[in-house]
Amino acid sequence: MLSVYTKTIVKILDGKKIAEEIKLELKAEILEMGKNGMTPGLAVVLVGSDPASRIYVANKKRNCEEVGIKSASYELAENISQSKLMELISRLNDDENIHGILVQLPLPKHIETQKIIEAIDPRKDVDCFHPENAGRLLIGQSARNASRGDADGPRFLPCTPGGILELLKRSNIEVAGKDCVIVGRSNIVGKPLAALLINAGATVTVCHSRTRNLKEKTLRAEILIVATGKAGLISADMVQPGSAVIDVGINRMADGKLVGDVDFENVKNVASAISPVPGGVGPMTIAMLLKNTITAARNLSS
Ligand code: GUN
Repeated sequence: MLSVYTKTIVKILDGKKIAEEIKLELKAEILEMGKNGMTPGLAVVLVGSDPASRIYVANKKRNCEEVGIKSASYELAENISQSKLMELISRLNDDENIHGILVQLPLPKHIETQKIIEAIDPRKDVDCFHPENAGRLLIGQSARNASRGDADGPRFLPCTPGGILELLKRSNIEVAGKDCVIVGRSNIVGKPLAALLINAGATVTVCHSRTRNLKEKTLRAEILIVATGKAGLISADMVQPGSAVIDVGINRMADGKLVGDVDFENVKNVASAISPVPGGVGPMTIAMLLKNTITAARNLSS
């Protein structure tokens, strides 16, 4: 039988607005913690002068201040040695006023990134990049464990994947049982997101640069999440009518405009829900970082 899809008005997944709501909740939590003499502290480490990283880091610090997290900033020269950076991480690990450590990636080529990540105390690893935390995430259990900081569950949800799940949840988009297709297999987004979605009961396909016939895969998605850094990779003919589309890409065009990996203007006529760029996943990522810093402060003091 011929099925006819009737287009309803697309829902724009307003990550900026939802992140503001979360920040209000976190602000109240921090006020309560303050009554017990505790102020969460986040160390933000930036190496070099990559313009995009500078903007992200400044954004993270501004958001910390907005909710009452104390941020300590370390801006280091591009040519800093591996051992000097390791020394800083070691000092931050021992600093009682620092509960979260964020080293902005990518690091310069001469730095062994994985060694730096592994030097961070897993209890302060608010990015959830340390193998111990990444492993806990893969082994699973629910996101509830993370927010409770249970010993056997992940301590934190990684910021971007956690932000995507929260965006879906607060937009009343059910994940359990859904066909989810992720485009992109990075350690920051694609891989941990796949683990989170599986734990949440979704059926997950992960596509990447070697995937054959990408369109055939993306058309199967009831929830399509794209994190490739390729502007306009996903066109309207690659999207299942009525699906939810989450765009993680942030690409700066020659005219200075920011766009995602999804052709927003055309895909919004096909999808039932879509996240914009900017104002979609980006603010949710930061909200999750703030949440993780509070979780770290609570765990370290209990
Ligand atoms: N670079 C791009 N995204 C991220 C992130 O979520 N955390 C860190 N530390 N670096 C990044």
